[in-house]
Amino acid sequence: MSDFDTNKKAETGKILVQVKNLTHIYEGSHTPAVNDVSFHILEGETFGLVGESGCGKTTMGRMIVKLLDISSGSILFDGTDITHISSKEDLMKFRREAQIIFQDPYASLDPRKKVGDIVAEGIDTHHLAASREERNGRVKELLKTVGLDSSFISRYPHEFSGGQRQRVGIARALALKPRFIVCDEPISALDVSVQAQVVNLLKALQETKKLTYLFIAHDLSMVKYISDRIGVMYRGRLVELAPADELYNNPLHPYTKSLISAIPLPDPAAERTRRRQAYEYEENATGGELREVEPGHWLKAL
Ligand SMILES: Nc1ncnc2c1ncn2[C@@H]1O[C@H](COP(=O)(O)OP(=O)(O)O)[C@@H](O)[C@H]1O
Ligand SMILES: [Mg+2]
Repeated sequence: MSDFDTNKKAETGKILVQVKNLTHIYEGSHTPAVNDVSFHILEGETFGLVGESGCGKTTMGRMIVKLLDISSGSILFDGTDITHISSKEDLMKFRREAQIIFQDPYASLDPRKKVGDIVAEGIDTHHLAASREERNGRVKELLKTVGLDSSFISRYPHEFSGGQRQRVGIARALALKPRFIVCDEPISALDVSVQAQVVNLLKALQETKKLTYLFIAHDLSMVKYISDRIGVMYRGRLVELAPADELYNNPLHPYTKSLISAIPLPDPAAERTRRRQAYEYEENATGGELREVEPGHWLKAL
């Protein structure tokens, strides 16, 4: 079995994030990086978003937290249309609700800043502490929450391992007490030996802080354990969406089948004979509409 906790969240039924026909075209590019994608994320759930490198996952995650322009389509957050918010005040308000954890904890932490200042970024920007003592007290509390020693506050990112750095990134994301966090491949850059620890930390935090996650990964091997529902992306499109178990046990899109065939099997004998199914897409002209083929199981026209 896996090292990962498998406590999936019961659905509350309330939609926190709603993405409608979302599209992003990078300047100078002809093909959209994200192409007419629609889905929703329920409050308290972990929504997994998987697909190979370059399929548009990061672009999607960054649009949802308003770090990247939306070319067309819309995003509702807790019922409010945030598609076009752009004033500093509105963005600051939104940042207190929605945060992101980046893929590469080496590149995403400013090497010239002390860990304490990195974690306190949001607290400082939003003037949330009345004094230096209060601010540092909260930073130490945040460090403790993610399993780091409070002495980290006055040290620099380069003094730490990848796993510790990613914990700093998680503490930074938690500082404003958000309700929603985009976890953009938070363990992909880490040693396998610490991946489970970081995932289990994220799961525990979700539990205690009532968080909703968009959890991005390039394969299904771990997401299938921690996600309530999973969306599969291919070349900018969402091609299949289903509850995690249903997607794993009854994949319908050939690309999803190919992703599942790439997951190593725990049984050595079975693993020796595992066959990787390749998938090459034949571009078709149909739009982004998904069809519900079974309750909760959505599939893009093949
Ligand atoms: N800043 C950028 N400028 C132009 N193209 C980009 C930029 N960032 C990403 N892309 C392109 O957009 C597509 C989707 O990228 P990305 O969202 O990073 O995919 P993923 O996170 O799934 O690996 C890729 O083809 C990538 O090359
Ligand atoms: Mg990415």
